[in-house]
Amino acid sequence: MPDALARNKPKSITKARWHEVQRLELDFWNRWTTLLPYQNLDIPSYWRQEVAHFGESWGCFHGLRVLDVGCGPFGLIHFLDHAAERIRVDPLLSQYGQKLFLQSPQLSISAVAESLPLAARSIDLAICFNALDHMLDPQAALDEIARVLRPHGSALFMIHTFAAWLRPFFWIDRIHPHHYTAQSFAKLVGGRFRIERCETVRRHFDIPPAKCLGGHLKSGHRGSLQNRPTSRDQD
Ligand SMILES: C[S@@+](CC[C@H](N)C(=O)[O-])C[C@H]1O[C@@H](n2cnc3c(N)ncnc32)[C@H](O)[C@@H]1O
Repeated sequence: MPDALARNKPKSITKARWHEVQRLELDFWNRWTTLLPYQNLDIPSYWRQEVAHFGESWGCFHGLRVLDVGCGPFGLIHFLDHAAERIRVDPLLSQYGQKLFLQSPQLSISAVAESLPLAARSIDLAICFNALDHMLDPQAALDEIARVLRPHGSALFMIHTFAAWLRPFFWIDRIHPHHYTAQSFAKLVGGRFRIERCETVRRHFDIPPAKCLGGHLKSGHRGSLQNRPTSRDQD
């Protein structure tokens, strides 16, 4: 593998490490409403803001078959009433004690993104928020998302990114098995998708301190004919 490609490949993690991350994730969602930063969180407003960061309006999901990969118990998919069909996928879906109800037509699947039990070219719009960097193999997940997207489909990706100087301290953050800078995340996604918009938004969280930056990427399925501006990167 050429050096540049090897550098861009996410470091693989062991299955044991991923299971540890998932245990921490479940524990977080069991008590998140007791944590200070989330106590007065207005979830619908939070999601509207997230969508706006992509330069999209709330109406962009209208009439589409939308897939939320790594949806969690309160993910964006639960608020997209105007989508034609909603599909939520998360390996912890059956284990979340508290999760939102999803109105039909819907499909709820306990599965991993690295092996989506969905037909190729069946999804109009994929969303994946704060989840790629929690996965065993983000590259395989991107390949799967690309496989299930229709040729003119789009994907919205968001993760928490970190400044490069924090690299020696990444091991402290146990809930993220992968850490990206805004640039390395754009490279990872750009290797599989044509990026239309890329934005880094500075965030302030009281805890956990590691979650201080958010990166938003809107990608057209690689090779699609969508005629939108290419990537825009703001810091
Ligand atoms: C931080 S939560 C984000 C949940 C939701 N997207 C949100 O923003 O509220 C990360 C989610 O990714 C899921 N996840 C972890 N590994 C995954 C994988 N391999 N495939 C799909 N989802 C995964 C976790 O189970 C968890 O629900």
